[in-house]
Amino acid sequence: MKILVTGGAGYIGSHTLVELIDAGYEVVAVDNLCNSQKHSLKRVEKITHGNIAFYQIDIRDKEALTQVFKHHKIDAVMHFAGLKAVDKSVQKPIEYYDNNIGGTLALVEVMQNFNCKILVFSSSATVYGDAHKMPIREDFPLSATNPYGYSKLMIEQLLQDVFQAGGGWSIAKLRYFNPIGAHKSGTIGEHPNGIPNNLMPHILRVAMGELDKLNIFGGDYNTPDGTAIRDYIHVVDLAKGHIQALHALIDKPQIITANLGTGNGYSVLDMVMAFEKASGKPVPYQITHRRKGDIAICYADPSYAYKKLNWKAKHGLKDMCQDAWRWQVKNPDGYLC
Ligand code: NAD
Ligand code: UFG
Repeated sequence: MKILVTGGAGYIGSHTLVELIDAGYEVVAVDNLCNSQKHSLKRVEKITHGNIAFYQIDIRDKEALTQVFKHHKIDAVMHFAGLKAVDKSVQKPIEYYDNNIGGTLALVEVMQNFNCKILVFSSSATVYGDAHKMPIREDFPLSATNPYGYSKLMIEQLLQDVFQAGGGWSIAKLRYFNPIGAHKSGTIGEHPNGIPNNLMPHILRVAMGELDKLNIFGGDYNTPDGTAIRDYIHVVDLAKGHIQALHALIDKPQIITANLGTGNGYSVLDMVMAFEKASGKPVPYQITHRRKGDIAICYADPSYAYKKLNWKAKHGLKDMCQDAWRWQVKNPDGYLC
């Protein structure tokens, strides 16, 4: 079977390509490289000894996408392409809606034209807003506080409607919690264009000596140590969740909405300590003001994914930190070296 991976050069897409090739699928990747480098795909080929047919296109370009579908008989799509920085989405809402919603609309239209109706979509735990009960289950109320979150909510609705309209679609909406870590080989990892706002890339920069200290955003949350709690999940576990979802969708046409998380919540200070232990590097920090828009606690109930997809995360915090550190040390300039 041939799988099209949109956003395949990116962080989660590249790790999922490894799992797809290892599972015996043929793969085609498209990416406009707005937040990635195509070297990541070469690295995937190196790890897997596989081949990736790559097209540098924007998925909003229906004509270009159509050409890809004409060249390859695509059986299913894994859709990672999108913009993901919450703060930028507030500054540039039009760009975010255009890219995320426009891209998805173009994709499903071209898929429909080619009668390709199996789709796995990257949603996010952000669709739960500030949930008041933990762990978070899929049937919790949905909300958003920024254009990025709204774009995910709107795409979920769009896909629900496409499924509801009939015609044999089979769709998975996977709600990721906080992906970190890297492939065990240290060959691929997270290397966005520009500086990300996320915790692990900042910890890595401090450990590398590129930053003096980590700013911990908020020490006065209602949590055991006062810092915010998240459900960090190894990116390889996340990637494997996509393979399981794909199997379920191939098995029978259906719509699946599933959390991909570990079910464990760790505070920012837990993360600093776990990283120091795993890497042997100190991570000096200072506790500063809360970051606007942040929530105190967010972790998944992953039991539905286990029941439905026979999937659960296997890696612990130690693996996540060690693998992230290995990638960083082997590739201080990411894919640029
Ligand atoms: P990423 O930025 O590394 O990967 C996204 C890829 O899509 C990039 O390579 C980018 O160049 C490409 N892209 C963006 N817009 C495109 C377009 N219009 N046409 C073609 N390519 C385009 O991000 P990631 O962390 O791998 O995230 C993948 C998906 O998972 C995204 O949809 C993101 O919103 C979602 N997600 C990520 C996280 C996270 O913390 N990383 C959490 C929840 C959900
Ligand atoms: N944090 C710091 N210092 C930093 C960076 C982050 O203390 O330098 C803290 C944050 O305040 C938060 C925690 O570390 O408490 C995690 O922050 P991230 O930015 O890594 O992740 P978020 O949970 O804020 O957001 C992530 C994705 C979003 C997605 C959300 C829910 O980046 O795209 O998870 O899935 F919407």
